[in-house]
Amino acid sequence: AAALPEGYIARSLRVSDYDTGFLDCLRVLTTVGEITREAFDERYRWMSSQDTYYVLVIEDTNTGKVVGTGNLLVERKFIHSLGLVGHIEDIAVSKDQQGKKLGLRLIQALDFIAEKVGCYKTILDCSEANEGFYVKCGFRRAGLEMAHYY
Ligand code: ACO
Repeated sequence: AAALPEGYIARSLRVSDYDTGFLDCLRVLTTVGEITREAFDERYRWMSSQDTYYVLVIEDTNTGKVVGTGNLLVERKFIHSLGLVGHIEDIAVSKDQQGKKLGLRLIQALDFIAEKVGCYKTILDCSEANEGFYVKCGFRRAGLEMAHYY
């Protein structure tokens, strides 16, 4: 994947990102809720104990703040000879940092991991409003999402 702009790094999420704006970054995407440090730590440790979640962040090295994030979830299947499917989830770039290709670099990095761990495809759900972004990231419309909310 091509480089990030000067002054940004991409890295894995750390438990210390509770204090660097990771949850605030996700608030551009949807409701996050009030999450205590203890609850965050517990979720982080559970995710890290699995070989399934790859949560990346983009850090602004001048401020130490997380300004972008995305998650690759690796699903283990029986079909396709115990195939692996990547799911890209929870992509968010802070409002004031959008349009600098940070989102594109996040998707490229997650896609690279998915291919490296052996996924035969990576899929994601998005709104119509974001279709153009994902097309620029190399994805194409396939299928239809259905949901049952509880
Ligand atoms: N529609 C069409 N094109 C777009 C859109 C869009 N909504 N957003 C960006 N693009 C284009 C850009 O213009 C750019 O094109 P170019 O290469 O011709 O210049 C290219 O896509 C790459 O854009 P980036 O600068 O990398 O986009 P950005 O860093 O702003 O991130 C993102 C895009 C993640 C959608 C951001 O706007 C965001 O966080 N939005 C709010 C949260 C959100 O909707 N997240 C995605 C939910 S879906 C999911 O999580 C699976």
